[in-house]
Amino acid sequence: MGEYVRVCALGEVPEDGALHVDIGDTPVAVVRACGEVFAIHDVCSHADVPLSEGDVEDCTIECWLHGSRFDLRTGKPSGLPAIRPVPVYAVRVDGGDVLISLTDSPDSSDSPDSSQEPSA
Ligand code: FES
Repeated sequence: MGEYVRVCALGEVPEDGALHVDIGDTPVAVVRACGEVFAIHDVCSHADVPLSEGDVEDCTIECWLHGSRFDLRTGKPSGLPAIRPVPVYAVRVDGGDVLISLTDSPDSSDSPDSSQEPSA
């Protein structure tokens, strides 16, 4: 198990919104979406802009600059122009605190290959 760091109180993260935090030198967007809390690297993979300033919708966060959407569970972009995934981090909610590990991979109990949905 990696080391979990308390980054903020759960109440500081808006519902269907994001909060920027820094863990050491690593910028992280803490995101509440679809009833869960996610952590995604707070830099778009297309250009150097923070994802935490984008819109959150349906377990994705949208890059405000060119509109690529990233799946908060996998970090994968679902639309151009971004083609590379953004790292996602493991999150724990402990009482009212949000804890993040930069070294643990997020719990993905469902297999990564079977959860692909075709996007029309
Ligand atoms: S900078 Fe994010 S999609 Fe272009």
